[in-house]
Amino acid sequence: MDYSKKMLRDDALAGKNIVVTGGGSGLGKAMTRYFLELGAKVAITSRNLDKLKTTASELESETGGTCLPVQCDVRHYDQVEAMMQTVLDSFEKVDILVNNAAGNFISPTERLSANAFDTIIDIVLKGTKNCTLAFGKHWIDTKQENTNVLNIVTTYAWTGSGYVVPSAAAKAGVLAMTRSLAVEWAKYGMRFNAIAPGPFPTKGAWDRLLPGELREKFDLAKKVPLKRVGDHQELANLAAYMVSDFGAYLNGEVITIDGGEWLKGAGMFNLLEAVPEPMWDMLEAMIRAKKDH
Ligand code: HXC
Ligand code: NAP
Repeated sequence: MDYSKKMLRDDALAGKNIVVTGGGSGLGKAMTRYFLELGAKVAITSRNLDKLKTTASELESETGGTCLPVQCDVRHYDQVEAMMQTVLDSFEKVDILVNNAAGNFISPTERLSANAFDTIIDIVLKGTKNCTLAFGKHWIDTKQENTNVLNIVTTYAWTGSGYVVPSAAAKAGVLAMTRSLAVEWAKYGMRFNAIAPGPFPTKGAWDRLLPGELREKFDLAKKVPLKRVGDHQELANLAAYMVSDFGAYLNGEVITIDGGEWLKGAGMFNLLEAVPEPMWDMLEAMIRAKKDH
């Protein structure tokens, strides 16, 4: 099976201008590459301008598209407004915002300083709020319709997770914002959706979530019923569909793409997978034997 195949037809995003926060690396870069291949113009933003410039020129020569690198720390509203203006000066309009920038690291919560907790909340929740508010207000003021926002959350946004508590709290907030604005701002022609990825190896995430020996000790592929991690193109395919006009009736939705990982942890008896086949004869006999008593 080739799950790295590209899904949509070539012109699926022609005429669309997209901003991808955190677009210089990892999943943001993978989405940007595919958006460019589908005919969109894409502005990528993050704190590290050198990284953004390298990514933009790499993706432009790979795809023949237009990729604009713009420095912006999403924690600061003034920087977000300045980034939006820079993109508008170059692209004239923006149709789609992808809130992908994030910060995260594993830590027992009691080891976190107040500032460490704030740092994650500020990047993930406040950063998403800053970009959403700036672009949302702009779209309302200019009466631009057929716009949409795609937020990248994660599956522990609804289950919670120990050892990444600031991230879980912030992603839960982003999910609530997605669903809330999907209703409130639909009247302005905006759609809001989210993707909840399971494990998709990226340097940014793996360096902070699986440092050193943890990488081998906690092989995340083993936690996934499909027994593998995600391929970046699978996520890019889903994102492209959701932001494109093919997804025009999709609003307020969060789509999980995790090979069944979170449900495996949730189902009380899923651990019975460890029971070997021959033992089931014995277990069945034991259960049946109790029937009459
Ligand atoms: C405890 C830590 C820490 C650690 C930093 N801090 N690392 N505390 N354990 N490992 C503390 C610092 O001491 C400081 O607090 C505060 O956090 C801010 O740290 P800075 O280094 O000053 O912050 P900054 O330079 O802004 O960097 C932000 C960052 C960094 C989040 C700490 O990791 C970063 O730049 N991350 C961006 C990329 C990223 O995280 N990608 C992964 C996304 S993966 P004090 O009190 O000392 O001032 C993801 C996946 C989810 O979200 C699901 C996967 C399945
Ligand atoms: P990544 O490469 O580290 O991406 C995070 C990006 O955010 C980086 O490009 C970083 O760029 C940017 N960023 C961080 N702080 C920022 C700030 N203050 N302002 C602007 N940009 C900032 O990791 P990734 O795995 O691709 O993560 C992408 C998204 O997927 C995140 O939302 C993450 O939570 C989500 N996710 C990932 C996985 C996974 O398995 N990889 C699973 C679930 C969810 P700079 O450092 O240059 O600022």
